[in-house]
Amino acid sequence: MENQYIIKGGTPLHGEVTIGGAKNAALGILAAAIMTDDTVLIDNLPDVRDINVLLEAIRGIGATVERINPHTVKINGSTINDVTIDYDSIRKIRGSYYLLGALLGKYNKANVVLPGGCDIGSRPIDQHLKGFRALGATVNIEYGMINASADKLIGKHIYFDVVTVGATINIMLASCMAEGRTVIENAAKEPHVVDVANFLNSMGANIKGAGTDKIRINGVPRLHSSEYSIIPDQIEAGTFMVAAAATKGDVLIKNVIPRHLEAISVKLIEIGATVEEFDDAVRVSCNNRLMHTQIKTLPYPGFPTDMQPQISTLLALSSGTSIVTESLFENRFKYVDELSRMGASIKVEGNVAIIEGVDGLTGASITAPDLRAGAALVVAGLVANGYTTIDSIQYIERGYENFEGKITALGASMQKIPVDDERAVQKFKLKVS
Ligand code: EPZ
Repeated sequence: MENQYIIKGGTPLHGEVTIGGAKNAALGILAAAIMTDDTVLIDNLPDVRDINVLLEAIRGIGATVERINPHTVKINGSTINDVTIDYDSIRKIRGSYYLLGALLGKYNKANVVLPGGCDIGSRPIDQHLKGFRALGATVNIEYGMINASADKLIGKHIYFDVVTVGATINIMLASCMAEGRTVIENAAKEPHVVDVANFLNSMGANIKGAGTDKIRINGVPRLHSSEYSIIPDQIEAGTFMVAAAATKGDVLIKNVIPRHLEAISVKLIEIGATVEEFDDAVRVSCNNRLMHTQIKTLPYPGFPTDMQPQISTLLALSSGTSIVTESLFENRFKYVDELSRMGASIKVEGNVAIIEGVDGLTGASITAPDLRAGAALVVAGLVANGYTTIDSIQYIERGYENFEGKITALGASMQKIPVDDERAVQKFKLKVS
C-alpha cells in the first residue's frame, strides 16, 4: 500500500531533534564490511529504505546479517557464496555500486546490476570503471550488468576527471587489499568519504589522506573485525536546520558534527537566521523574514547539492531575488513545478534557478520527484497555509528515518496516511483543527 504525507502548515518548529547516522556513509561502510571474513559490528545505522535494500543484497549473496536493533547490525562475510547481485530492489538504489568495489577487492570478481538511485541527472559511472580498470580489472557492461574481474589487483596512480564521491569510495574499496600502493588524485573530500576510510582503517586497511584531494592506499593482505559507529547525517541535519528557519522556529539539532554543516550554517546566517554551534549540536532559530542570496552547489566543502532543494525552498520565501546554481546534477530542479503550485515564483534556466521571494505559500496536492526534493516539499508544506498532501513518499523514505515522527515531535502537524484514503484525510483534519 502506498502512503502519502498530509501536513497542516503554519506551526513554527520548536524543541529538539536527534539526527541519525549518515546514509551515504553507511552504504559504503556496509559494503566494506563484507570484505573481511571476521564479524563486524556497525552502529548508528540509519533505518531507511536504501540501507535495508543494501542489507538484503548482502544477505542475498550469502553473508550473515544480524540486525541487533534498527540501528545496529552485525555482518559476517565469510559465508558469501555468490558474487552476482541482480535483484529488482537493488536496481533502484545507487549504493549498489559499492558492492562492485567491495567484491572485486575481496574476490577479484563481481557482477552487479547497473545502479539506479534518484533521477537527478545522467549519473555516469565512467570514473568508477576507469579506476577498476587502472587497478587491472577487466570490466564489461552486458545486459544491464557490470561484470568486473581480475587475476589480481595492483595499486595504481588514478586521477579522476571529476570530483566524485561514489568513485572515490569505490576505488578505496577495490584497492585496499590490492598489491602495492594506489594514489587517488582529485578525490572527493566529503565527510562520508572520510568515514568509509576510517572504517576500512579500523579493519586494518592503510588509507591516508581521506578528506584531502589526494588519498594514498597501501594494500594490506587482509582485513579484520571491527566495531564502528557511523557519523551523523549531514543532510538530515541540514534539512532540519532549514525547516527550523523556514517555519520561524527554534530547534536544537543534536548528534551532529557542526564542522560538516558549515556551508549550510554560513548561508543561513548570511540570510538572517541565527545558528549557534555546540560540541555536537546546532541550534537554529529565526523570527523575521529572511533575505535573498546566491548559492552554487559544489563538492565538499562547498554547498552540498543534496541541500539545494531545501535551501531553494527557504529562499522562495525570503525577500528579494536569489540565484541558485546546481553544478553537479542537471536534473535537480524538478520540485520547482510543485513549489510553483504552492505559490512560489521560480524560473529555471538550464542549471540556474532564479527565485523571486514570495510572502507565503499555500497548501496543495503535490508529488515528491526524488529524495531531497521530497524533503524540500515537506518543508514547504510545513510553512504553507492550509493542508498539503505529498505523494511518492517512498523517495523520501530512502533517506529520512521516521521523518513524520521527528517533525511531529517538534510541534508540527504531519502524518503518514494511505494514498486515496479520504477518511484518513478527514480524521487528520479533525484532529489538528
Ligand atoms: C553521491 O552520489 C550521493 N549518493 C548523492 O546523494 C550525492 O548527491 C552525490 O554523491 C554528491 O554529493 C550516494 O552516496 C549513494 P558523485 P554519486 O559520483 O556517487 C559526475 C542523496 O540524495 N560523475 O559524487 O552518484 C556526476 O555526474 C544522493 O542522498 C561522473 O561524471 O555522486 C556528478 O556530476 C542523491 N562520472 C558528479 O560527478 C562518474 O563516474 C558527482 O557525482 C561519477 C560521477
